[in-house]
Amino acid sequence: MKLGTTDMPMPVFLAPMAGVTDAPFRRLCREEGAGGAVTEMVSAKALYYHNRGTERLLRRPMDQGILGLQLFGSDPEILAEMAAAREAEYDFIDLNMGCPMPKIVGNGDGSALLEKPELAYEIINTMKQALTKPLTVKIRLGVNREKMNGREIALLAEKAGAAAVFVHGRTRAQLYSGRADWEEIRRIQEALSIPVIGNGDIDSAQSALRLREESGCAGLMVGRAARGNPWIFREIKAAWLGEAIPPRPSREEMAARMEEHIRWEIEEKGEAVGCRELRSHLAWYTAGMTGGAALRRQASSLSTRAEAEAFLQAFLEA
Ligand SMILES: Cc1cc2nc3c(=O)[nH]c(=O)nc-3n(C[C@H](O)[C@H](O)[C@H](O)COP(=O)(O)O)c2cc1C
Repeated sequence: MKLGTTDMPMPVFLAPMAGVTDAPFRRLCREEGAGGAVTEMVSAKALYYHNRGTERLLRRPMDQGILGLQLFGSDPEILAEMAAAREAEYDFIDLNMGCPMPKIVGNGDGSALLEKPELAYEIINTMKQALTKPLTVKIRLGVNREKMNGREIALLAEKAGAAAVFVHGRTRAQLYSGRADWEEIRRIQEALSIPVIGNGDIDSAQSALRLREESGCAGLMVGRAARGNPWIFREIKAAWLGEAIPPRPSREEMAARMEEHIRWEIEEKGEAVGCRELRSHLAWYTAGMTGGAALRRQASSLSTRAEAEAFLQAFLEA
């Protein structure tokens, strides 16, 4: 797949997930085979006003490989200016047009733009003019079942100069319920000449191949199934290349990765914040495990490095 002029030999992306896909987690996923990643969504307006917390989201000390900065907002000038100011540090800029959270939509941002094609066009076009790096957009299938306008929006993004489109196979009204509609992703894919990256409900190497097959997409994107499971990328990578899918990681292998995750999180954010962020990540690693509930209780109150190490020991012994 080509992203602008950049060749992507492994077009399988870690999806942007606010509160999840920070630099340490992106590094784990990449080392396990993800070919690309996107930051957590970043408010263009907050950047414009130099919000310190927002600036921290932008740190990329651990990222190697293809990384996109995802911005959300609805003011064409602010989005274009902030994208241009930051593009040097990234491989592409992604515009969030899919977030359905009331707080975001209420401000006219995220998936609210699906209802405003003219403004969406103006934003993409203005950003494109300001950028030298590729611009992508991330959309949903449409507003709701009655207004499935994702294809119209995707075509308009292409016309405005987008280099690729990420499509989450749900409508805005669906939030995260129901199944992602891969047929509808196919209809969008078939209408465009730029690459479409399919997203929604990939939870294994097998389902990744199925989405590729059913949608004809040039690339794939994995979100929730990567939480506590960066190994899904080595499995998808093997499947993508037609190689034998590696076995699931052993408990020891998982613990070795988790040890790195703990170290990088604390290195990056300090002990207090790092440990707080680790609570949900460490809990996700225990999904489906016997003794998982007790481990998750232990993870939920983690606040020091020593407690994180004790958690790892308990994980190995569970
Ligand atoms: C906790 C969480 C946070 C998310 N944050 C973002 C975000 O910041 N930007 C975005 O475009 N999508 C966001 N998403 C949507 C995902 O990128 C993805 O489109 C969606 O989860 C469907 O893919 P999946 O079935 O592989 O999880 C988020 C999803 C979750 C569950």
